[in-house]
Amino acid sequence: MKSKRISFGVVCAAVFGFSGAAYAECTTDVAKDDLTDAQVVEIYECIKGELRAGYTAMGDERAAAYPSWGSAATVPGGIGNHGSRFLTTFVNDTGYLEYVRFKDADVTMPVGTVIAKESFNVNKKGIVKRGPLFFMEKVAAGEADEFGNWVYSALQPKGKPMKIKQKFCNDCHVNFADQDSLGYPEEDYRITVFAN
Ligand code: HEC
Repeated sequence: MKSKRISFGVVCAAVFGFSGAAYAECTTDVAKDDLTDAQVVEIYECIKGELRAGYTAMGDERAAAYPSWGSAATVPGGIGNHGSRFLTTFVNDTGYLEYVRFKDADVTMPVGTVIAKESFNVNKKGIVKRGPLFFMEKVAAGEADEFGNWVYSALQPKGKPMKIKQKFCNDCHVNFADQDSLGYPEEDYRITVFAN
């Protein structure tokens, strides 16, 4: 068994699950709330490969595609939203340039925009846990009017579609009505594409 200890104490170890497949276990001895941005990035680098392998395990095409889309965040952030997980948002070509303006009013995302958001968490023992992959897809007017014409979905860490209610996701996202239901990454972590 190989393990790697990184300066501040992230450990990446190859361990074997019930299926016999190897997966990485990343751990840290820094409490979740005390992690610096650099440490969060290091944890992300440790877990990223396994996150993506899990999401694609059941053949979801969007899960295979999103790593090549544009990223909207510099550091996995968003603790406090989506179950206190660390979040990284990606947007497909159709919507990327509009999304990264991070406008706070009059936002209309183009039909065909797909947004994917990876998540992971660090538990009390310092073990890094994979979280769901969340999606929002913009559909044509009339297809999902009651939810701002967004279709919400999510995959479990091992790639299985989650049973979710559109209303559950929309009830919170509707708070961002002026932003076409978009919550955006925390301001400090937004990628800078446009100067304003
Ligand atoms: C309690 C409120 C809440 C609920 C419930 C919620 N979200 Fe979010 N969501 C947010 C916030 C806040 C953000 C922006 C924070 C971030 O990404 O760092 C966000 C961001 C997102 C994004 C990235 C696009 C954006 O808004 O900027 C996706 C995709 C997403 N959520 C999908 C979902 C799905 C799917 C569900 C239902 C399973 C869901 N959300 C439920 C609050 C919520």
